[in-house]
Amino acid sequence: MNRLYTACIMKNGFLGHDASFMLDFVVTALVAIVPVLLYSLYVVKYQKKFRLHRNLQIALGLTLLVAVTAFEVDTQIIHGGWENIVNKDPDSPRLSGEAYQYARSVLHFHLIFAISTPFLWATTLFLALKKFPGDPKPGSHSRLHKVLGWASVIDIVMTSVTGLWFYYVAFVA
Ligand code: HEM
Repeated sequence: MNRLYTACIMKNGFLGHDASFMLDFVVTALVAIVPVLLYSLYVVKYQKKFRLHRNLQIALGLTLLVAVTAFEVDTQIIHGGWENIVNKDPDSPRLSGEAYQYARSVLHFHLIFAISTPFLWATTLFLALKKFPGDPKPGSHSRLHKVLGWASVIDIVMTSVTGLWFYYVAFVA
């Protein structure tokens, strides 16, 4: 019974929409990181707690890295593509025709942000760690960091919003 339950969770996820465990995991992670990100921006902008901001941003970066890698391995290698998660039973596909095409378009829109985000985040993080002092404080890197930082924030929020949109179109609607 217990093994059956675990197998069911791995195959169908835990949010109750017949997705997959890793898809539900990455959707949950994308929602959970937003409040932490907002808090990190609040502490740097209004409380000037630069060290806390740095540590939170590193933790968020690592969380994203783990979540996205595990998700990609599961979706591409284990399931063989998102189509096989959406249409688990080829004899009675959940999405077909126009609904399938619409989900595909939403996914492609989502991928613009989902693919650019890790690169932008890695660049922002790498440069900040290299250019700010060990005990971080504003300096000559601030101007560029603010531009890269806000661009990274917008990118991850768009990844989250469009990811939820795809999840809704593919598994909930
Ligand atoms: C991807 C990771 C990061 C993102 C998205 C990010 C984002 C931001 C943003 C948007 C601001 C500007 C807030 C404002 O408008 O006042 C900021 C400020 C700052 N961040 Fe980051 N940050 C990241 C990583 C880091 C790291 C790793 C460090 C330290 C090594 C750091 C140190 C700072 C400092 C010192 C400021 C204040 C700059 C100033 O006011 O002159 N950040 N960050």
